[in-house]
Amino acid sequence: MGLLDHKAAVVTGGAQGIGLAIAGAFAEQGARVVLGDIDRDRVASAAAALREGGADVVGEACDVTSESDMEALVASCVERYGSLDVMVNNAGITRDATMRKMTAEDFKTVIDVHLFGAWLGTRFASAIMREQGSGSIINMSSISGKVGNPGQTNYSAAKAGMVGMTKAAAKELAHLGVRVNAIQPGLIRTAMTEKMRPEVWEQRLTEIPMGRAGEVDDVAGVAVFLASGLSSYMTGTVLEVTGGRHI
Ligand SMILES: NC(=O)c1ccc[n+]([C@@H]2O[C@H](COP(=O)([O-])OP(=O)(O)OC[C@H]3O[C@@H](n4cnc5c(N)ncnc54)[C@H](O)[C@@H]3O)[C@@H](O)[C@H]2O)c1
Repeated sequence: MGLLDHKAAVVTGGAQGIGLAIAGAFAEQGARVVLGDIDRDRVASAAAALREGGADVVGEACDVTSESDMEALVASCVERYGSLDVMVNNAGITRDATMRKMTAEDFKTVIDVHLFGAWLGTRFASAIMREQGSGSIINMSSISGKVGNPGQTNYSAAKAGMVGMTKAAAKELAHLGVRVNAIQPGLIRTAMTEKMRPEVWEQRLTEIPMGRAGEVDDVAGVAVFLASGLSSYMTGTVLEVTGGRHI
């Protein structure tokens, strides 16, 4: 018996990192999963690797900033698996720079991928879930959206915006049986954080009461909780997965 038996999920940004770990954890709990990612080759090989482990997973090329791509992504889950029970809006990028150097395009692109992308995912997924009378939507925010990080005015704004969007959507959808929650990871070891300068990484580590960076599975476990019936009376919440940083 898995926590997500008979459920079908879509995970954006699922070709690597946190999204891929979430997909693997969902599959371990019995879910069938559609991975969406802008990296066509990587998402295909990520899905193939999970299938080799016995999971029922497919990879689809998709740009979360494209309305037609996102509509097609959620539709493909329903066509293939008969329902859409869990939507994880996880795709993300960084374009870090101080405001002196950040271009308007850097700002707009980051807002577009995180905030508009998650809004599209929430909108299209909830259209299906409201008809089903059930569903769980999980938006991948960041602790950067709570505290703000220098060099990340774009990213922090997008991640804080996702919290407001999550709460508004939760209120719109609660009476329809659809829950919407957000996760705010702290410092998690992925390709995204590998780009950080070593001295910045070391400085961030000193801020973490648990004394270590997070691993992708630390976030995936919380996503399983929010996706499953274990969190049946939770909506509009923001769960921090930070090892105690910035509490
Ligand atoms: N790693 C961390 O420390 C950390 C902390 C807080 C929040 N997050 C958030 O978690 C999420 C996953 O981050 P990660 O660390 O696994 O990053 P990652 O770079 O390893 O993975 C991000 C994935 O998103 C995909 N992607 C990027 N733009 C896309 C688009 N327009 N359409 C579809 N897919 C797109 C990439 O191809 C990639 O596969 C992001 O939203 C990130 O902001 C990460």
